[in-house]
Amino acid sequence: MRQAKIIGTGSYVPSKVLSNDELATRMNTSDAWIFERTGIRTRHIAAPEEATSDLAVAASIQALRMAGVDAWELEMVLVATVTPDMQTPACAVHLAHKLGARRAFAFDIGAACAGSLFAMSVASQYIATGAVKNVLVVGAELLSRVTNWGDRGSSILFGDGAGAMVLVPTEERDGPGRGLLALQLYSDGSAADILCIPGGGSRAPLTPESLVAQHHKVSMRGREVYKFAVTALVQAVERIVAEHNLSLSQIQHVVAHQANVRILEAILERVGISFEKAHININRYGNTSSASVPLTLDEANRSGKLKAGDLILVMAIGAGMSWGAGLIRW
Ligand code: UT7
Repeated sequence: MRQAKIIGTGSYVPSKVLSNDELATRMNTSDAWIFERTGIRTRHIAAPEEATSDLAVAASIQALRMAGVDAWELEMVLVATVTPDMQTPACAVHLAHKLGARRAFAFDIGAACAGSLFAMSVASQYIATGAVKNVLVVGAELLSRVTNWGDRGSSILFGDGAGAMVLVPTEERDGPGRGLLALQLYSDGSAADILCIPGGGSRAPLTPESLVAQHHKVSMRGREVYKFAVTALVQAVERIVAEHNLSLSQIQHVVAHQANVRILEAILERVGISFEKAHININRYGNTSSASVPLTLDEANRSGKLKAGDLILVMAIGAGMSWGAGLIRW
């Protein structure tokens, strides 16, 4: 069995910036309240003509360029998203077409904010069995289109963006223990109603009344999500660290889903990992759901902070609830 490694990363956020101060002119909130509770100052919002696959294309081009892989060489394209261009076909199909990835088969992964971890896991299994030689994994979201702007408890959190990575098998010269060492994933549908988009599916097709009631937008019980997230990710991180016989000091970087900086602080404090190791961009981008992990990884990578051999802890949690933790030897 071969290990998967990441040889290229990319990211994209739309140019329009929406600040907390601007939000405070539209709803009863303030920069101080939002920053204190979440760590967010600004988020980026897509232009009306942009769709999720457009964000994904921009991030993918960067990742492919860094990897030195042409789009036509790609064998598999995965997009983690809860905001595809349309209900069907998959966002990944639109992305592959726009990139010119004609050889690749493409499909979407739905695990909300944990989607990129789920997609990385699928990609690594295909690589491990030798079924494909490369995979483009993208997390892309246009959350501003599914945000209920009349709900100050949730709308302050979200932003638009995309992150991408190219995965290939490790080679002999990489030596043992490199690449994606482990990814442990979890799901608990009993908590489905604390964070969801209730309308527009087969359970509740949209009606004029449900559109007015915003059932096609994100519905969230924030405090419950917060508590679930901290408990679940503490357990996930403790388990993966224990099962790999690691001491916490061996972890050099934390690349986590940027849901809320307070959630991350609480998790790292309980586990015993210094917050200094976490790469943070939620202050600039807000919560970009499945884009968050690959976007953060790309920023860390491009800033030169990730050195060959460094151990990276990745983690994410989102609607489902769906969550996971992983270890990458860079
Ligand atoms: O990827 C996973 C995505 N979701 C999350 O990560 C969400 C996790 N949860 C959170 O981040 C937090 O629960 C929030 C930041 C969303 C909310 O913070 P909180 O401390 O849990 O606030 P709360 O919902 O318990 O509300 C406390 C008060 C309420 O007022 P009263 O009833 O005490 O008078 C709210 O009405 O804060 C009020 N409030 C606001 N005030 C100013 C709620 N939203 C706002 C707001 N500005 N934007």
